[in-house]
Amino acid sequence: MGKRIFLSLMAVCLLLSACGHNQKDEQKTSIRIGISLYRGDDTFINNIRSEIEDKAKDYERENGIKVTLDIQDAKGSQNTQNNQVDRFISLGCDVLCINPVDRMEASGMIEKAIAAKVPVVFFNRQPVEEDMNRWEYLYYIGVDAKETAILQGQMVVDMYAKEPGAVDLNGDGVVNYVLLEGESSHQDSLIRTEWSIRSLKDGGVPIEKITGGIANWERSQGSALMEQWLMQYPDTIELVISNNDDMALGAIDALERAEAGDVNVIGIDGTTQGLEAVKSGKMLGTVSANKEIYASAIVELAAGCALGRETPKEYPLVDGTYYWAPQEIFVFEESDK
Ligand code: GAL
Repeated sequence: MGKRIFLSLMAVCLLLSACGHNQKDEQKTSIRIGISLYRGDDTFINNIRSEIEDKAKDYERENGIKVTLDIQDAKGSQNTQNNQVDRFISLGCDVLCINPVDRMEASGMIEKAIAAKVPVVFFNRQPVEEDMNRWEYLYYIGVDAKETAILQGQMVVDMYAKEPGAVDLNGDGVVNYVLLEGESSHQDSLIRTEWSIRSLKDGGVPIEKITGGIANWERSQGSALMEQWLMQYPDTIELVISNNDDMALGAIDALERAEAGDVNVIGIDGTTQGLEAVKSGKMLGTVSANKEIYASAIVELAAGCALGRETPKEYPLVDGTYYWAPQEIFVFEESDK
């Protein structure tokens, strides 16, 4: 009798170590994943969305499981996103993948998920730790912002070490820069800004800030700020450090309009347009999450949760909760032209 109790306890423990609340369900042949994007018109998020769609098809093919993705755009409204979560749950989604509108306000969605026992994979906009600790079946997939920023600074450090005149354009021993920042509430903005600058300074580039401003990840806002700065500080700016590619591309638009072509611009994201700009020499470089791995991690983890399987070993979770996707740099080479 004692042994039987021990064995059933073991079985419960095994079930609990599986991803998701579901009992291991080998019979399940189809799953439904509810995905909510903070803004469907965000370039980087759009790139990730396409990869998720591709990876879901790969998953279907490789595992013989039908995967239905229900992808919704919250259009920048937390209220809309909360309603989307309600709808996903009422439609019987097995798991949710959420790119929160307001990462500080994830608790409402978390409470709904806990009540319905539906696991959640958050991505790109990181909820606060206190919220992430509310339940075992909450996960986060993103990139390490400090690593991104150090890589971004490194691109200029390497260039300066090779050819100082390519960075310090007027050769006065100082590299004058402007800074374009993302949303102030986003975890990436502050960390990227701080560590890009640190990595440039530590790498021996004599930088000096002219000015900076928040352009909320947007190309048009980046362009407007840059246009203003070019008028305020004519023939002074040598480097544009941008928290993402879209704002960097906006700065390039303004530089082109002002016919001030020499200024170096660095971005982050490796979006399709960003990579094109690097290839053509308009942008010095960008840092990118490996989007295939990023999206695979989302799909594999979500599908594993939906099926009540173990978390996939290829995507090791830090503290059982966080997966950090690897990153790479893309720098302009003369030979790319
Ligand atoms: C950042 C990315 C930005 C924007 C933002 C949205 O990680 O660099 O371009 O997509 O996420 O949350």
